Amino acid sequence: MRLDGRRALVVGGAGGIGAAIAACFADAGASVLVADQRPAAGPHPSVSVDVTDEGSVADAVAEAVHRLGGVDVLVNSAGVLDQAEVAGMSLDTWRRTLDVDLTGVFLTCRAVLPHMTAQGWGRIVNIASQLGLKGSPSMAHYSAAKAGVIAFTKSLALEVSGAGVLVNAIAPGPVVTEMTADLTPEWTAMKTAELPLGRFAVPAEIAPTALLLASDPGGNVYVGQTLHPNSGDVMP
Ligand SMILES: NC(=O)c1ccc[n+]([C@@H]2O[C@H](COP(=O)([O-])OP(=O)(O)OC[C@H]3O[C@@H](n4cnc5c(N)ncnc54)[C@H](O)[C@@H]3O)[C@@H](O)[C@H]2O)c1
Repeated sequence: MRLDGRRALVVGGAGGIGAAIAACFADAGASVLVADQRPAAGPHPSVSVDVTDEGSVADAVAEAVHRLGGVDVLVNSAGVLDQAEVAGMSLDTWRRTLDVDLTGVFLTCRAVLPHMTAQGWGRIVNIASQLGLKGSPSMAHYSAAKAGVIAFTKSLALEVSGAGVLVNAIAPGPVVTEMTADLTPEWTAMKTAELPLGRFAVPAEIAPTALLLASDPGGNVYVGQTLHPNSGDVMP
């Protein structure tokens, strides 16, 4: 699976899964620009973005178009997760999670679409989560946002596939990154025990699914799908 000549913007590319996708895409021949709210440690050029801020997203996409010469592939991998049960969850915690994990996906997709439709080709890969299907105690806000990403992906795919832009999602199971390092030991033990594979994934085991969706011909007939590299946590 190759991406020679493709220009890829990886939002959240300073994080575990995003960085693995950026590396995988670069290995496959793509020009990669990482966008994140924190500096990226990897070898790829990067631009600062806050996905909850409309103006910041517009600036980052304009910068990507300027530096790469256009955008063929967008990956949305920015995300936040903190644990709170609904009974004690503050409205700020709820809103912050929905802002980053769902509204951020809307804003970045909306900003790249004119470029992709004008060139008649584009691929968007949104990183959802298996919890968007399964739910989890202490993660109702996150699970709701990720279910939203899956439905958003289907709806946008219906709107733009005719213009040559294919929009799909990946719903990973638990992956060893900074995001999961902060979870309670109780949650990690509970989740590990219920995984048929008996272990979390590592980011390099998720990235090839993004490459499949971005590649030609591998991704050519995926439209509005959600793929599930998830250690068996959900079998949709
Ligand atoms: N790690 C897992 O178990 C797991 C499982 C399923 C889905 N996911 C999803 O995968 C994606 C990547 O997560 P990860 O595990 O690599 O976590 P991570 O914490 O390593 O990376 C997340 C990245 O998002 C960035 N980010 C956060 N808020 C932002 C904002 N407002 N604007 C711009 N960037 C922002 C962070 O700076 C960070 O680099 C997330 O959407 C996450 O929800 C993770």
